[in-house]
Amino acid sequence: MSQKKDPKDTCVLVTGGAGFIGSHTVVELLNNDYTVVIVDDLSNASEKVIDRIDQIVGPDKAKNLTFYKADCNDRNAMNRIFDENPIERVIHFAGFKAVGESVQKPIEYYSNNLGNTLVLVDTMRKHGCKDIIFSSSATVYGVPDKLPLTEKSPKKPATNPYGWTKWMIEQILTDLHTADPEWNVVLLRYFNPIGAHPSGLMGEDPKGIPNNLLPYVAQTAIGLRPYVHVYGDDYDTPDGTGVRDYIHVCDLGTGHVAALRWMNGRTGVEIFNLGTGRGTSVLEIIKAFSKACGHDIPYKIEGRRAGDVAANYADCSKAKREMGWTARYNIDDMCRDSWNWQSKNPNGYGD
Ligand code: UFG
Repeated sequence: MSQKKDPKDTCVLVTGGAGFIGSHTVVELLNNDYTVVIVDDLSNASEKVIDRIDQIVGPDKAKNLTFYKADCNDRNAMNRIFDENPIERVIHFAGFKAVGESVQKPIEYYSNNLGNTLVLVDTMRKHGCKDIIFSSSATVYGVPDKLPLTEKSPKKPATNPYGWTKWMIEQILTDLHTADPEWNVVLLRYFNPIGAHPSGLMGEDPKGIPNNLLPYVAQTAIGLRPYVHVYGDDYDTPDGTGVRDYIHVCDLGTGHVAALRWMNGRTGVEIFNLGTGRGTSVLEIIKAFSKACGHDIPYKIEGRRAGDVAANYADCSKAKREMGWTARYNIDDMCRDSWNWQSKNPNGYGD
């Protein structure tokens, strides 16, 4: 059973804590006095992130952070981490996340994302830790029947193995609670995370050609790419381009802090959407980013990308009502912070 505890007495394990969303969440946790243990195999993250986190939070709070370079699939390593730290709660981010790649490498995606979750929850169970927040995605809603999406909107078949792993892990954690009602599971469904830490010290650092819109726009703005490919302008949306609910990554970070507070002393399975509730089109993003960087960003309209939906955005009233959380940043803030990061770190962390 989850014990009610103060943040300063609570040690939180963050798997994938050196990644884009993980690192911004760790900063918010340390700033809110939690003790944090990161486990990350650095397969898609840089070790420099740990120094950047230390710089942002300052030496006093940095003392409350421990980093392990390890794979969550490694049972011995996970056991050792639980033996060496009084872990009370877990936030599980670690996983492969490239939608297109997952179609080419289904075995790797299922084996890594599902496998590491099973090792993690088995290790948690052995150590009497039953509180977990899972990093899920709006992708589980598939093609929406109705907007905005609420937590009661039906889950739909995923369109790729990455999406299925999110879908299935939600199910695994729900089944775990059915088998043992002492489990305390929070499923956070993120909409489209963008932006960067306002300090310019941390941000998104995609390997190779970015799949997602924002890093592509940012790299075009800095001159690394000639133009943005706009995938379709014939959708049933105000300007014909795809509409998404973009959320600042620091708002996602505070969403996790709110979820930790909310789950304190409870058991059950609860789902929360984390978004802003506002939809923004591809052309509106390009315009907002041009304003942030001070020059026009070239783009070309192309055909639709397979698997894309016209529009999706969240109803976030449950997170506000239950956890007292709302997103603070708007699209201009997100583009400003993305540009600040991109212009100060044109090669990301430079690995
Ligand atoms: N887009 C472009 N050009 C690009 C990239 C994207 O026009 O180069 C468009 C897309 O067609 C879409 C919008 O920009 O309309 C956003 O696309 P992203 O690839 O940035 O994001 P998605 O909404 O496709 O996917 C995101 C996450 C997934 C997650 C999904 C859940 O990347 O991990 O949201 O809704 F599964």
